Amino acid sequence: MGKHDEPIVLEGIEAGKKAAAIEAVNALIKDGQVIGIGSGSTIVYAVERIAERVAAEKLSVQCIPTSFQARKLIHDNGLILESLENCPVIDIALDGADEVDAELNCIKGGGGCLTQEKIIASNAKDFFIIGDTRKKVESLGTHWKKGVPIEVIPMAYRPIQLQIEKKLGGSAELRMAHRKAGPVVTDNGNLLLDWKFQNITDWDYVNGVIKMIPGVVETGLFIHMAKAAYFGTADGSVSIR
Ligand code: 5RP
Repeated sequence: MGKHDEPIVLEGIEAGKKAAAIEAVNALIKDGQVIGIGSGSTIVYAVERIAERVAAEKLSVQCIPTSFQARKLIHDNGLILESLENCPVIDIALDGADEVDAELNCIKGGGGCLTQEKIIASNAKDFFIIGDTRKKVESLGTHWKKGVPIEVIPMAYRPIQLQIEKKLGGSAELRMAHRKAGPVVTDNGNLLLDWKFQNITDWDYVNGVIKMIPGVVETGLFIHMAKAAYFGTADGSVSIR
């Protein structure tokens, strides 16, 4: 790739994210819904489109965030911010993903918001993924090379690393902030491990093993949760899996 090609590639990726987000919002968002709002860069386009439709079509929707970022996004776009206390049943949750496999299993948590994202997704009647086409893979680990994000209680991070590596192999690295200024701290005040794996096919089993380790709060494995995924390409076309 020449040095001038990179911005064009990035523009294409953003166009893909936007196309997927707009297509999903147009198809799925209806008047009266309680909507779970995911985190990351793709969801920004979805929230902007929801706000446009609310204004143009006078829709009445309530939004529940999965992170500080999502909460601010809802607020900044003038949408109604709600909570699980008031709205424990969510009609639809929309979120990005780091990878989605052929069975709609996902790796999520590249942005570190996996725990609240999973709570919202699991309390939604329907959970949909949006992303650019790089996220569409046949098996997990093809595109996203950073491993499975795992949120852990800070005092337990070291034994959890050792237990994961002993039980499942691979390496579980503590996620560090930019320039290694310190560990990344989640919205819940916890730390993140990124578990790099090899030759895994039984994701239900792996998810169960990790979740059973004391001090593990949640994993970024979203197994059998998504109803469909929208993938966008640079030319604006969208495929649905
Ligand atoms: C954050 C997430 C994001 O949804 C995921 O990382 C995808 O982000 P993006 O839309 O920026 O590619 O799981 O915890």
